[in-house]
Amino acid sequence: MKRIIAIMLAVVLAATSAFVLTSCGESKDTKSSETKTELHMATNAFFEPYEYYEGKKIVGIDAEIAQAICDKLDAKLVIDDMEFDSIITAVSSGKADFGMAGMTVTDERKKAVDFTDSYTTATQVIIVPEKDSKVKNGDDLAKAAVGVQMGTTGDIYVSDIKGASVERFSKGADAVLALTKGKVDAVVIDNEPAKAFVKQNKGIKILDEPFEKEDYAICLKKGNDLTEKINKALKELKNDGTIKKIVDKYIGD
Ligand code: ARG
Repeated sequence: MKRIIAIMLAVVLAATSAFVLTSCGESKDTKSSETKTELHMATNAFFEPYEYYEGKKIVGIDAEIAQAICDKLDAKLVIDDMEFDSIITAVSSGKADFGMAGMTVTDERKKAVDFTDSYTTATQVIIVPEKDSKVKNGDDLAKAAVGVQMGTTGDIYVSDIKGASVERFSKGADAVLALTKGKVDAVVIDNEPAKAFVKQNKGIKILDEPFEKEDYAICLKKGNDLTEKINKALKELKNDGTIKKIVDKYIGD
């Protein structure tokens, strides 16, 4: 009888400790996913194919590369959509951990933020009406009304052209809308979003006028150690072909 009680006791004890162990394990698991570091990415999600809405979700090349980086850093990616010209301030003030928005590395921006290594390149292009365009080449911008997205390299570029009248819009799509309505003569914007706009709107085309190559990179608060970690992740993602795969998925040639 004593033996039976002892055995029963042992069984109960074993069961309880197993229960305690599993419930411990479980609560630990939920906790660790809850306490996973969040990394906030500041972007402007109206820039297909780099970042844009598919329903309520922000997708695109930058969104996917950012997710791959966060997976490597074991962090949870949170995307904060904002005006393009708020991104640098969000990052330098620490409101966001990094900025990724098809953002070109420029000396001016480097005064305010650090940039990672570049993950892809782009160039500015000129979009004009398909028929009877007043703007036939880059020089013609000097006598034209030109739409740009506020605070972008297109804005900086056109603002430097003497004689051009710059119309600044908060979204590239609004600049393109103004073009299709004849309110501006041309739009200067990055090549891939330009292709997407031309596909979505009738009666506009891209001029065959090459501009300087630009490097896209991720910006971070100055002196942040996250920059090195992201560079390491980027290097791995470049070397194993992930970046190319993501770019090719969105930019079919
Ligand atoms: N590459 C240009 C720049 O850095 C335009 C970027 C606009 N990006 C965006 N997500 N709206 O100024």
